[in-house]
Amino acid sequence: MFTMAGKTSILSMLLLLCFASTLLIGHSTSQNDKKANISLSLISYAYIVYMGNKRDEVSTSFLYTSMLQDVVGSHIGAESLLYSYKRSFHGFAVELTEQEAQKMAGMDGVVSVFPNQKKELHTTRSWDFLGLPKQVDKPTTESDAIIGVFDTGIWPESASFNDKGFGPPPSKWKGKCQALTNFTCNNKIIGAKYYRSDKLFVEGDIKSPRDSDGHGTHVASIAAGNLVSAASLEGIGFGTARGGLPSARIAVYKICWSLGCNDADILAAFDDAIADGVDIISISLGGSSKNYFTDAIAIHAMRKGILTSTSAGNRGPDLATLSSFAPWSLSVAASTTDRKFFTEVQLGNNKKFEGVSINPFDLKNGTYPIIYGGDAPNKTSEIGSLSYARTCNDDSLDKNLVKGKIVLCDGENDGTGQLLAGAAGTVMQGRRPDSSAFAFPLPAAFLSLEDGANIYSYINSTSNPTATILKTNARKDTFAPYIAAFSSRGPNPAANNILKPDLAAPGVDILAAWSPISPISEVSLDERKFSYNIISGTSMACPHASGLAAYIKSFHPTWSPAAIISALKTTAVPMDAEKSSGAEFAYGAGNINPLKASNPGLIYDIDAPDYINFLCGQGYSTKLLQSVTGDNSRCPEGSDRTVFDLNYPSFALSIQPSNSISHVFNRTVTNVGTSPSTYKANVIAPTGLSIKVNPSVLSFTSSGQKQSFALTIEGTLDKQMVSTSLIWDDGTNKVRSPIVVYEAF
Ligand SMILES: *[C@@H]1O[C@H](CO)[C@@H](O)[C@H](O)[C@H]1NC(C)=O
Ligand SMILES: *[C@@H]1O[C@H](CO)[C@@H](O)[C@H](O)[C@H]1NC(C)=O
Ligand SMILES: *[C@@H]1O[C@H](CO)[C@@H](O)[C@H](O)[C@H]1NC(C)=O
Ligand SMILES: *[C@@H]1O[C@H](CO)[C@@H](O)[C@H](O)[C@H]1NC(C)=O
Ligand SMILES: *[C@@H]1O[C@H](CO)[C@@H](O)[C@H](O)[C@H]1NC(C)=O
Ligand SMILES: *[C@@H]1O[C@H](CO)[C@@H](O)[C@H](O)[C@H]1NC(C)=O
Repeated sequence: MFTMAGKTSILSMLLLLCFASTLLIGHSTSQNDKKANISLSLISYAYIVYMGNKRDEVSTSFLYTSMLQDVVGSHIGAESLLYSYKRSFHGFAVELTEQEAQKMAGMDGVVSVFPNQKKELHTTRSWDFLGLPKQVDKPTTESDAIIGVFDTGIWPESASFNDKGFGPPPSKWKGKCQALTNFTCNNKIIGAKYYRSDKLFVEGDIKSPRDSDGHGTHVASIAAGNLVSAASLEGIGFGTARGGLPSARIAVYKICWSLGCNDADILAAFDDAIADGVDIISISLGGSSKNYFTDAIAIHAMRKGILTSTSAGNRGPDLATLSSFAPWSLSVAASTTDRKFFTEVQLGNNKKFEGVSINPFDLKNGTYPIIYGGDAPNKTSEIGSLSYARTCNDDSLDKNLVKGKIVLCDGENDGTGQLLAGAAGTVMQGRRPDSSAFAFPLPAAFLSLEDGANIYSYINSTSNPTATILKTNARKDTFAPYIAAFSSRGPNPAANNILKPDLAAPGVDILAAWSPISPISEVSLDERKFSYNIISGTSMACPHASGLAAYIKSFHPTWSPAAIISALKTTAVPMDAEKSSGAEFAYGAGNINPLKASNPGLIYDIDAPDYINFLCGQGYSTKLLQSVTGDNSRCPEGSDRTVFDLNYPSFALSIQPSNSISHVFNRTVTNVGTSPSTYKANVIAPTGLSIKVNPSVLSFTSSGQKQSFALTIEGTLDKQMVSTSLIWDDGTNKVRSPIVVYEAF
């Protein structure tokens, strides 16, 4: 199976995590729907008044209050401000009517006013892995890398966050551990704060950075968890759990709660994290907005040398579903690993069927009577009709008929109905080939319709039908890696000619630390407690990239965020378009490559002024830019700056159907490897296109030296999308950038 040797190479950790697992399918419980409704009705009136990034002049709550009084009336005071942002940028959050918000938007110094929207976590469901984690290796070297994790908080007692072997926090750290009861930071978790401007705490929320959900703990341990040997979920996924940079410190910014994550809180956390001195911000959540506002904060973070690593979103496999696409942030898709979990169902006639689920229950091959839910409706219940009983909805089943049996249901649910009816297990039918595996509060497997029909016919044709559900097992998936169906695809909805997502990292069935108070099945009746869990989502992919980014930064402390993005992308392992729908729109440059990323040879660097030019090309005015950047940045007058001038380490060209193509991309690479060195350009042009690189040889005599080249694409497209890559090769490094030409849609 899957045990890692005690070596601490970053590769082993990444591999290991890659081999842990979980599922991703949207189970929407009625309870969640109720919560969503509460949050909508109460929060939708909060607005954020954004006044740009910090300049020399002082902005105070006093100023904000007087602006507020001008708009709303003199009766309103400073206590009405949900937040005054003043550490890294200016602005405040406050409740306004739509009319007041419009009036506020017209006031001097206001860049934009927008509603406080909700963002979602990028995992739709999680499981838990249990194992008794036992520490083997302890970090022996101190590390100064600090990863800021914006999520649901953390479970500080997890072995993944033990601080044995860590010295005091690095001196650059300016943050703190919020004064709290029952939560202590240590030399691993060096800072922790929570944000809840609307005070909408509901049952289950813990008013501290403590994680009652599990998601934040999972993500933090993927990015920076210690080495923990013998981690598993009841033996499932057994191996060593380890973060991308186990020696990194973690700063916790808890911004997500039972009711979601609000923009106002996210911005407050950005404000703090920038001032606190984190190196990398890892943020595994997103919404559907195309608003660049929060990205304005990310631009600001970028100017302070902080890379923001984000998850691409879980709305795939359709195209143009990305929720993260700003060129100054890293957008990470979710790939699979070569460990695949499966759960078998065995019938009394010895026929076996293979389903997906994370099933740690061990029925010890004991057989149980099996019944179809549609044959067991609770006739006295309001929803006890046949159509509900088929799908085993809550209260739809007759306990007398179902108790102690395995129940076959149409479609996948969270298992609550079956559990309430006293079922011994459940077999659900309706799985598609790309369905993710989830945990349930009782023994469960999710099967295809075809297998379900076979089981039904067995039930229908046998006098005493029986079955058992085996514990989840793993096998090698030789088809891996490919991009998960749920992973959001490009093209970039905001800038067609910037390729997004940037790259992929493991995000399917990932084993990592968990909050023991959070049920892995997400069903509140489920009382099992686990310290490790297997879940899936681009949420899990993002911290893999964050950990690797921190690793690169620890080698190259002066590298800009763009240089780190370039190193991650140009060293990525190419992926197979045949296996992942959307090709580059699914995986960008490919799967992250921990062995190569810290030594890319060449980088495509980007300075703040380049992003300014990019924004000018996107139609931002000088006034808006200055507010965002806090300096005298100007849009170059009369210039036709375009998105193509951004020195991005990939090439994307969207064209109108049937137009012939003739386009030049100019790029500049910086030598960060040995010198002297000579790189030769390699491109294989797809049919119908000619791709030329000029010059096609670049010689470097010193480290830090820059050379420019032009890449020209000409010809016509014979399909909707073609792709290839440019590789600069010096015999040692292969600096690879994807090239994508596609018809705009
Ligand atoms: C949501 O709340 C509103 C009133 O606040 C109510 O009218 C509506 O029926 C609720 N919707 C659901 C799905 O509960
Ligand atoms: C601290 O929090 C944990 C998790 O909620 C709980 O199990 C424990 O009892 C708490 N301890 C105290 C002293 O409140
Ligand atoms: C259950 O059956 C499988 C074969 O179907 C066998 O390999 C396994 O050892 C059995 N487990 C137990 C606990 O009997
Ligand atoms: C039918 O459902 C009701 C709740 O609606 C429940 O009280 C009752 O026990 C159920 N009866 C059986 C036989 O499951
Ligand atoms: C169940 O079995 C009966 C005969 O025993 C058959 O007529 C019926 O079509 C079967 N139902 C299904 C759905 O297979
Ligand atoms: C791009 O490069 C070509 C050839 O090196 C040069 O003529 C052209 O001016 C450059 N374009 C821009 C926008 O810098």
